[in-house]
Amino acid sequence: MDFFSSDQQFDQLYPDSISALASRHWTPIVIAKEAAHFLAVGSNTRILDIGSGVGKFCIIGAKFHPNAVFTGIEQRDSLTQIAQSVAHELSLNNTEFLTGNFTDIDFTRYHHFYFYNAFYENLIDNDSIDQTIKHSPELFNLYNRKLYKQLKKLPVGTRIATFHSSEHEMPSSYQVVGTGSNEDLKFWVKI
Ligand SMILES: C[S@@+](CC[C@H](N)C(=O)[O-])C[C@H]1O[C@@H](n2cnc3c(N)ncnc32)[C@H](O)[C@@H]1O
Repeated sequence: MDFFSSDQQFDQLYPDSISALASRHWTPIVIAKEAAHFLAVGSNTRILDIGSGVGKFCIIGAKFHPNAVFTGIEQRDSLTQIAQSVAHELSLNNTEFLTGNFTDIDFTRYHHFYFYNAFYENLIDNDSIDQTIKHSPELFNLYNRKLYKQLKKLPVGTRIATFHSSEHEMPSSYQVVGTGSNEDLKFWVKI
């Protein structure tokens, strides 16, 4: 089966409870392909997905860009386990999935970044992935500030693709250089 031909096919890789969350929480396949195409430039490029969920972006990126390495950092260990298991099932050897808070990650180990509105769950009371994580508007602000500071330190030429971002996390040193076929996908480069 070609799991990469549509979201419907791809989401079959996941347990039903996880694929049921796809339209709201996981990157659509067309967006993942466009974002990965923008980020996987150069050779031996290391890309970090900030809040990687069940690994959909990283797995699609890794499949189409075998010379780049896609790492995901995800605070919910249950989702990291699922991402690892699907990457293993697809025999991908250029993904890595870590459990933890992105605030503990050294961003300088990566060249380029993907960010799908990971902090938004702090602003809503329903529609969460699950109830295992504390959320609050204060955390939304804190995470945006922390990500802003991390991004600000990175070298000129750093790329980030954002999907449905509130843009609170983007320092003014990053410029939008394009959008995807869906204008909620934005391509940024540090100048
Ligand atoms: C909208 S989902 C996107 C998942 C994945 N990037 C994708 O595109 O398919 C955002 C994910 O970010 C995770 N997340 C939110 N805040 C986080 C944090 N501070 N550190 C690590 N992961 C976080 C959530 O648990 C959720 O799985």
